[in-house]
Amino acid sequence: MKKIALLSSLILLLTGCGNNNSGSSGAMSSSAAEKVYVAPGEYDEVYAFLSGGFSGQMSVYGFPSGRLLKVIPVFSQDAEKGYGYNEETKAMLNTSHGFIPWGDSHHPDLSQTGGELDGRWVFINENNTPRIARIDLTTFETAEIIEIPNSAGNHSFAITENTEYAIAGTRFAVPSPQKDIALSDLKGNFKGPLTFLSIHPETGIMNIEFQVIMPGFNYDLAHPGRDKSHGWIFATTYNTEEASTLLEVNASQNDKDFVTAINWKKIEEYVKNGGGEKIKARYAHNIYDEHTHTATTTMKDEIITVDPSKVPGAIYFMPIPKSPHGCDVDPTGEYIVGSGKLAAELTVFSFSKMMKAIEEKNYDGEAYGIPILNYDAILGGVVQQPGLGPLHTEFDGKGYAYTTFFISSEVVKWKLGTWEVVDRQPTYYSVGHLMIPGGNSRKPFGKYLVAMNKITKDRYLPTGPEMNHSAQLFDITGDKMQLLLDFPTIGEPHYAAGIEASKIIPNSKKIYRLEDNKHPYAVFNENDTRVERNGNIVRIYMTMIRSHFSPDNIEGIEVGDKVYFHVTNLEQDFDVPHGISMLGATTSELLIMPGATKTFVWEPKEPGVYPFYCTDFCSALHQEMQGYIRVSPKGSNIPLKWGLDDVYKMLKQAK
Ligand code: CUA
Repeated sequence: MKKIALLSSLILLLTGCGNNNSGSSGAMSSSAAEKVYVAPGEYDEVYAFLSGGFSGQMSVYGFPSGRLLKVIPVFSQDAEKGYGYNEETKAMLNTSHGFIPWGDSHHPDLSQTGGELDGRWVFINENNTPRIARIDLTTFETAEIIEIPNSAGNHSFAITENTEYAIAGTRFAVPSPQKDIALSDLKGNFKGPLTFLSIHPETGIMNIEFQVIMPGFNYDLAHPGRDKSHGWIFATTYNTEEASTLLEVNASQNDKDFVTAINWKKIEEYVKNGGGEKIKARYAHNIYDEHTHTATTTMKDEIITVDPSKVPGAIYFMPIPKSPHGCDVDPTGEYIVGSGKLAAELTVFSFSKMMKAIEEKNYDGEAYGIPILNYDAILGGVVQQPGLGPLHTEFDGKGYAYTTFFISSEVVKWKLGTWEVVDRQPTYYSVGHLMIPGGNSRKPFGKYLVAMNKITKDRYLPTGPEMNHSAQLFDITGDKMQLLLDFPTIGEPHYAAGIEASKIIPNSKKIYRLEDNKHPYAVFNENDTRVERNGNIVRIYMTMIRSHFSPDNIEGIEVGDKVYFHVTNLEQDFDVPHGISMLGATTSELLIMPGATKTFVWEPKEPGVYPFYCTDFCSALHQEMQGYIRVSPKGSNIPLKWGLDDVYKMLKQAK
């Protein structure tokens, strides 16, 4: 009897699973598992680029599996890849303050053409020492970093819909230009520069075109107009109180702060016609050359600033309740969603109404000469009682918006136009930003949503006092959002950008071609490998191929020498990097891609015989990929010798 009952309930369970796609939680969780299951050997549908926050880097995940594909070093040294440690990439971290080994990466944004993601580059801003980086999506390497001078807390960042401009706004008002000034004199004397960088349509290279010297408020997040509002940029603006102390109280005094609306096309035209003022401003522009495999820094010393009062009709303030954070434009470009962190409702502005109010000069006063638009005249709608602590909104391209609420710890789905809340799902815990792939383009890929949470607590196995931040993936194809996956992240993903994998895969580089290698210290065959001395500078021109170095035995090095290992990876096969490291070298290993050349410096301190070896498991004989260097006392005058295997080569000597 018991057996039959068990059997029949099993049948029930099986048929229940088969027939019911949205019923019980059991069926739900099995469908969630299916939706994130990417079979071994198969590819994810989406690339997601997550900001690394205080790690300074950018991590790349595949969705829906949540597989970590790569961590791209951007603003911080990275020993795994040798980035910022090897001689070729150190220059990427140069600034006007000198070499800075760390950064606080914030908001990634992808290049677009005609408002659609084009898969060429992903950009990311650095908050602490204001910088913007461009990552090449054929190589997934940081190709450029430009410093933003005359600024601080580079927080608001966005790319326009044809990748014409990157916009970088400052979160901390500062004197402009910098000077020694009493903090009690802050009000009215500090400025909030918004910097506009052009992006070259073919090379992607950035150039600071102009800096709009806004009043000394804090500029938090920025979003460019789309489609009908293309040509405008919107940025949330808090601390309109201009407080410099106890901001948690003093920057929350005003009932309303602003969303700043800037007609950048108008300012661009003004500058093209000779407008603006040139001022001194030192900043570093670092570019990585894929052919020399080397970065170079150009120090620049001048920018053009624009006084908003000189370009009437270009800048307006839209009043918004209580310390706004997110400021997001829907795919049609009509709605601008402002999230007042302390407000009870979500304010949505209408772009058409904004244009009408501008035309009719429907103002509610001005701030530092910039007109404040009448709140009621530009209001498109209000989402009533949506949750507590709204931060950021993205769109699915099907008429719905999704807003994160930090305090009530949830994602809320609501309808554009009717402003009704249609769904809410809890997040674990205290969500900051969210991302829908393509969610800030004209054509979102509205299938997934990832919530990036600020607090993790009990979500994973405990790892001491610190838990990695967590992210959660939702399926948003149905009426209700479905939680699919929880996964830990790297650093603090303030924001992310996602794109269909099909837009990246065809252009992904497999190797660097040796014939394109223009590194000044590259060698392309083992007969040319050598060691050269110039005073105490010794250069080793070395190659690596499965599974040996050439040369792998070197003599004639002395204590006090500065030994440069210039190492070329001769492999021309996909995914065959080699590494090299040297006992006692005070730098990281090198990880060298096929066809590339990289360099590290070693200064031996004591006589002896020291081994070096390949750090990346490359073949069955990886363990044999090694060599020795003999170090003699200073002044020994042992002749330089080098070789590989045979004695006559070993006796090859410098003339
Ligand atoms: Cu080459 Cu391991």
